Amino acid sequence: QDAELGDYAHFMEKEIFEQPQALENAMRGRFAEDGSTANFGGLNLSANELRATSRLMFCACGTAMFAGLVTEHLVERFARIPVECDHASEFRYRNTPLFSNTLFFVISQSGETIDTLAAMREAQRKGFKVLAINNVVGSTIAREADGGIYQHAGPEIGVASTKAFTSQLMIGAMLALYLGRIRDMSFRDGVEIVKALKAAPDLVREALQQADHIKQIAQRYAQVSDMLFLGRLELFPIAAEGALKLKEISYIHAEAYPAAEMKHGPIALINADCPSVFLVPNNELFNKVVSSMQEIKARGGPIIAITTDDADLPEGLADDVITIPACHEAVLPIVATIPLQLFSYYVAVERGCDVDKPRNLAKSVTVE
Ligand code: G6P
Repeated sequence: QDAELGDYAHFMEKEIFEQPQALENAMRGRFAEDGSTANFGGLNLSANELRATSRLMFCACGTAMFAGLVTEHLVERFARIPVECDHASEFRYRNTPLFSNTLFFVISQSGETIDTLAAMREAQRKGFKVLAINNVVGSTIAREADGGIYQHAGPEIGVASTKAFTSQLMIGAMLALYLGRIRDMSFRDGVEIVKALKAAPDLVREALQQADHIKQIAQRYAQVSDMLFLGRLELFPIAAEGALKLKEISYIHAEAYPAAEMKHGPIALINADCPSVFLVPNNELFNKVVSSMQEIKARGGPIIAITTDDADLPEGLADDVITIPACHEAVLPIVATIPLQLFSYYVAVERGCDVDKPRNLAKSVTVE
C-alpha cells in the first residue's frame, strides 16, 4: 500500500492530484477529426436513434448522482433535450412514466451499486436500452448494460469519490456536446467546446496549485459543527458534492442549497459558528450571488468564496477567497470541484479522521 501511495499521505489525496490525468483518459481518442464534437464507440445506438431522443434520464447514487445533475444542465443547454435525474434507489420503486424515446443512463464508478443496478434492470424490464457511464471495466453494470461509456479514470481506492466524479463530469460534458452536434449546435460552438474541454486538465493543474492556501483555510475552519455550501445552476450540484465530501470524511454537518434559496430556510442557521462556502464565478448570476453573500455577511456568518480570476468580488465581503481560473461553462463544474475536495480533505486530516475509510461508509454499496 505504501508503495502505491508514493509521496501521498492518503489515497484520497493521491486521487485528487491524479485528476488531470483522469480527465485526459476520459477524452483520449474521443474527439472527431474536425475538432467539433465527441464520439463514443460503445453507445451501440445509431446517430438516428440518438437524434430521435426526446428525453434523457439519469439514475445514480451518491456522488455519481451529482454528476448526473450537472450533466442535466449541460445537455439541456447544448442539446435542448429535457433531462430528468433521479436517485436510483427512488427510481426503482416510483414507477416513473417513461416515454418511448427516452434515452436511459445509469452512472456508477464501481458498477456494483445495488440500487443503480436495480434501477437499470427496472428500465430494461420496461423495454428500454440502458447505457452505463462506469469506471470499473467488466463490472456487473457494465456487463448488463446495453452500451455505455467507460471512464478510464483508473482505480479509485479512497471511499470518498474524487477523480471518478470529475471524470463523470467530463464525460457528461462530452455527451452534451455530442448530442448537441447531432441536433442543432453549430460547428463553431462545437469547436469552442472541444477546445474548452481539452484545456480542462491544465486548468485543474492550476486549481491544484491552491492546495497550500486551501489547507491553511481548512485548518482554521476544522472545528466547526455546521457548514452551508451555496452555488447556482450547474454549480449547485457541485455545492452539493462539496457538502457531501465534507460530511463523508470529516463528519461535519453540511448542507447545500441553490444560493438564492437560502433565504427560504437555511439563513436561520447563520451565525458566527456556521460558515458558508459560496461558489461565485464571474457569470450572468454573479451579482445575484454577491447579494446572497451580503445577506449572510449582514447576519455575521463567515464566508469562504470560491471565485474565478476574472471576477471582481467586493472588497471585504468574503473572509477567505479561493481563486480558480476562469473557464467555459462546460468545464467550470470540474474546476470548481477541486477546491471543495481539497478543503474537505484538509479539514478531515486536521480533525484526525480516517480519510480513506470513513466510519459507516463503503466504497461500493452492494446491499439495499
Ligand atoms: C457509495 C460511495 C460513494 C459513491 C456511491 C455510488 O456510497 O461511498 O462515494 O458515490 O456509493 O457509487 P458508484 O460506484 O455507484 O458510483
